[in-house]
Amino acid sequence: MINPKLSKIFYGGDYNPEQWEKPVWDEDVRLFKLANIDIATVNVFSWALNQPNEDTYNFEWLDEVIDKLYKNGIYVCLATSTGAHPAWMATRYPDILRVDFEGRKRKFGGRHNSCPNSPTYRKYARLMAQKLAERYKNHPAVLVWHISNEFGGACYCDNCAAAFREWLKNRYGTLDALNAAWYTSFWGHTFYDWDEIVPPNILSEHFAQYRTNFQSISLDYARFNSDSMLACYQLEYDELKKQTPDVPVTTNLMGTYKPLDYFKWAKQMDVVSWDNYPSATTPVSFTAMRHDLMRGLKDGQPFMLMEQTPSQQNWQPYNSLKRPGVMKLWSYQAVARGADTVMFFQLRRSRGACEKYHGAVIEHVGHENTRVFRESADLGAELNRLGDRLLDSRVPAKVGIVFDWDNWWAVENSSGPTVALNYVDEVHKYYQAFYDQNILVDIIGVDTDLTKYDLVIAPVLYMVKPGYAKRLEEFVEQGGTFLTTFFSGIVNETDLVTLGGYPGELRSLLGIWVEEIDALFPDQENRIVLKEKVGDLAGDYSCNLLCDLLHSEGAEVVAEYGEDFYAGMPVVTRHNFGKGQAWYVASSPDAAFLKGLVGQIAADKGIKPLLKTPPGVEAMARTKNGETFLFLMNHNRQPQTVDLGIIQGTDLLADEAVSGSVEIGASGLRIIAYPNTNT
Ligand code: GLA
Ligand code: ZN
Repeated sequence: MINPKLSKIFYGGDYNPEQWEKPVWDEDVRLFKLANIDIATVNVFSWALNQPNEDTYNFEWLDEVIDKLYKNGIYVCLATSTGAHPAWMATRYPDILRVDFEGRKRKFGGRHNSCPNSPTYRKYARLMAQKLAERYKNHPAVLVWHISNEFGGACYCDNCAAAFREWLKNRYGTLDALNAAWYTSFWGHTFYDWDEIVPPNILSEHFAQYRTNFQSISLDYARFNSDSMLACYQLEYDELKKQTPDVPVTTNLMGTYKPLDYFKWAKQMDVVSWDNYPSATTPVSFTAMRHDLMRGLKDGQPFMLMEQTPSQQNWQPYNSLKRPGVMKLWSYQAVARGADTVMFFQLRRSRGACEKYHGAVIEHVGHENTRVFRESADLGAELNRLGDRLLDSRVPAKVGIVFDWDNWWAVENSSGPTVALNYVDEVHKYYQAFYDQNILVDIIGVDTDLTKYDLVIAPVLYMVKPGYAKRLEEFVEQGGTFLTTFFSGIVNETDLVTLGGYPGELRSLLGIWVEEIDALFPDQENRIVLKEKVGDLAGDYSCNLLCDLLHSEGAEVVAEYGEDFYAGMPVVTRHNFGKGQAWYVASSPDAAFLKGLVGQIAADKGIKPLLKTPPGVEAMARTKNGETFLFLMNHNRQPQTVDLGIIQGTDLLADEAVSGSVEIGASGLRIIAYPNTNT
């Protein structure tokens, strides 16, 4: 449980009283109570208010806010305010300002703007955390600490360059080892002194944000940058923990956010939290995948939905409103996938600056008679009724899809074989194939224990880290099924090709040798011609993007290419290895093929879909104490009927017994509780 002090799904969100005069605060509290809000995230962007100059700290305003909230039954998620530094700090200590990818020294402005290796930033951020912890350690209102805000971006300043060199010394020990790992014999890059190494940006190795001459250097810089920010987080974390060891600490993540290795970060977080901002056109399966990723960061532990908008964003090109019911539906989508909180950005809409058109529970009109307020209050009341029923329940998935940040960076830094390869999209294609048939999936890292899974899918496992091939082999030997795809097993941790034939370390597991890799133009495709029926799949299907030209070395050929000079070569193979099987899909297939393929592979392992539902109706389950909570979420704007089969249970929201066929309203949902034995 995130904090047993509030034993229900926390409901509330970002609250910025520092933007308002005091009389508004009283009105806020009245409205929060009306909306059934029980947690407010405060002090997110108030560093300048808290520390008006180098020697003065002023927390009286915050005391008053926290006391007022608590007296009214509202807890706080207490942020440390270090997500945007004060202007005076930038003027006085320019080391705090970042140097951007183009090599320009930034001036004061924006937020999330501090150099992670700035001594000034580290000193004052740590001090701020220490002072806040001292001041509020005994305050009963504090449920969670929220460090900074959405850590992100990158810096290329001289302090970062110096820190990078230290980071490299630590990683490689000697310049010889570094030169070998980076393959600096290419283009005469041999380094004879650590000081010759400079950050890879547009002034040095890059010719675009993710296009670089030296993948190994850029890869290490991405790791270093993520680690630098993590070190800043850690400084604050340690200060908070010294004084409040029992208060959970988090920082709000951003889903598939490329610059930070969240699997590494999550190890230092007590609870994962994240900000979910899909647009109206984001596939719901994509949002689902991101929730599953956030749950996977800490091995399936529940996470916090830290932010979502109650109605609309301001920063997307077209900020459409969430249609009636959709805010509630998407809130429960998060809960279904492991969220134990539902929180918004923000509670009251700002009057000025760039977020004044961002949705909020309290709109500019200032009162409660709005659609958004009514929908918010209604959800709040419902969450009160649910109490602790769903809290801490787990998702019983038997399928793991591997997602790895190092691999992501390496794949997309690659110069060739195609610019069109998007790692997240390839993962999502596989994810969606399961999602569309309501088969539960965990998104897992390369450190995640594989033994609890029956089926592991690793799309585009380009980089194989030390020991991972062995672990996959053990998994399959013991009976697991593994599937990987084109452009896998190619390089080691520093982006050096594993010699002796692709897919390198995965070659014996897969029983294949990939001789060449063909890149297709966007308007080109090839065909997957099945040699045998796989479930309902028969005949041929299309594929595109990349085509591996491969030879079987013991694998059975399930399908062959239908076109081009490699027609008749294997495109899908299955290799018996120990007690299990290893599949290889040598190109990027169409959705129908993938759905059929993974559906059948899952069925062969006895992994069943939760339920068959009409298109656009998402089914998901969490379990606890012998009980299953089945979420049925209708993303269509028309009502749908779902056949529950043998499931008989209680609809927790409608408070009625359900069985047989149930109707789900437009953008509506049901949460059906039943004993695990009842399926
Ligand atoms: C992010 C930030 C918030 C706010 C919202 C707006 O998630 O954390 O401070 O800017 O975006 O959508
Ligand atoms: Zn810097």
